[in-house]
Amino acid sequence: MAVNLLLGLQWGDEGKGKIVDVLTKDYDIIARFQGGPNAGHTLEFDGIKHVLHTIPSGIFHDNVINLVGNGVVIDPVIFKKELDNLEQYSIDYKSKLLISRKAHLILPTHRLLDAASEAAKGKAKIGSTLKGIGPTYMDKTGRNGIRVGDLELTDWKTRYQNLADKHKAMIDFYDAEIEYDLAELEKEFFEAIEVLKSLTIIDSEEYLYQAQKAGKTILAEGAQGSLLDIDFGTYPFVTSSNTTAAGACTGLGVAPNQIGEVLGIFKAYTTRVGSGPFPTELFDEDGETMGRVGNEFGATTGRSRRCGWLDLVALKYAVQINGVTQLMMMKGDVLSGFKTLKICTAYKYKGETITHLPYNIEEENISPIYTEVAGWASDLTKMSDPSEFPEELNAYITFLEKELETPITIVSVGPDRTQTIHRTVAV
Ligand code: GDP
Ligand code: IMO
Ligand code: MG
Repeated sequence: MAVNLLLGLQWGDEGKGKIVDVLTKDYDIIARFQGGPNAGHTLEFDGIKHVLHTIPSGIFHDNVINLVGNGVVIDPVIFKKELDNLEQYSIDYKSKLLISRKAHLILPTHRLLDAASEAAKGKAKIGSTLKGIGPTYMDKTGRNGIRVGDLELTDWKTRYQNLADKHKAMIDFYDAEIEYDLAELEKEFFEAIEVLKSLTIIDSEEYLYQAQKAGKTILAEGAQGSLLDIDFGTYPFVTSSNTTAAGACTGLGVAPNQIGEVLGIFKAYTTRVGSGPFPTELFDEDGETMGRVGNEFGATTGRSRRCGWLDLVALKYAVQINGVTQLMMMKGDVLSGFKTLKICTAYKYKGETITHLPYNIEEENISPIYTEVAGWASDLTKMSDPSEFPEELNAYITFLEKELETPITIVSVGPDRTQTIHRTVAV
């Protein structure tokens, strides 16, 4: 069976957690392929809201395997907290949560290095979630990292110490005013390592290969979004992994010719948390309304998310880079009540009109060119069928499908699992 992918197409927080949870009933395995606890994936059902950081979003379903792939970076301390939160739901995670031996570990000193690096950058800071993501991926590509599989080696603590000592020297080099009690951080780290070691640790690429051969259905869950991709995002204001489709191949060991549907998820407007360019950002009442109605606060850091109109130039780029075959539009309900909606369909770039994403989208180079469409007044949150959609919403959807040359197969109208409307379109 082919492996389907679900990816965020903007700057993250598109609603990946919600949709993975909705789609899990159709799959045997949900596999996270990159990122780490910088992610915050929200699921809502039966009146309860759950936020997952490292654990895949299929964990609440019975008879589904949830796999943390080799491309993910794991902070044992945060991972343990996530497991502790699941305790009350009697989830048998020993049998249905699998972890790749090749996933890298986030050490306490990686987190400190993240903080020191950001402090040293001053105004130019990335706006990192400070979870140690950048330093951990740096050690991975620098060939210094510690992997989950290393915990089975007798000398792993010596390796830990050598790496932590190196990090301490680097933290001193930054000369940033970071206060920390490493002994305390290490205590909770080593406690959490014991929990991690008690879980089911596997050679995940082999597992997935055999699962595919046996006809199992697999959905790969992405974290962050395409515009935060280390290669194709708004560098340097990006995360440190490939968030795009190719990242699923390297982050799980799945061959490119085994990829089936690429499900691209986007909000009906745009948000961004952290620093970096955002051409359609709003600083007015409209942006404030989106943030308030959409409850746009980071699921990991609680920071308020910057809001703006839908950027179709950037979205087209993401559809193209990922080879998206189906789109899912989230949070259309948040736009109810806007008389007019704006969609950025081109940029004014250095005096010219362009429709592709250029190398540099800093605001001094770019201003968005908008197409205006009529908004809808009705509340979408109680709707359950496309036949109930207001005419203006249908027009919005049709416009986007035409521009993006890709069908929108799901329209989400609220945070709950049930507030999900499937559209039958010829794929
Ligand atoms: P993720 O990182 O892509 O999983 O997304 P987040 O969980 O960080 O952010 C999405 C937020 O929007 C969460 O608070 C969700 O509960 C919420 N959400 C998801 N879909 C919808 C929707 O269609 N309408 C509304 N109003 N909220 C939604
Ligand atoms: P999910 O999976 C939104 C952003 C941070 C920062 C930049 C780098 O929930 O969509 P990092 O901690 O990775 O070094 O931060 O990337 N960022 C996210 N923004 N959603 C996320 O994940 C994000 N993960 C990282 O805010 O700007
Ligand atoms: Mg999120």
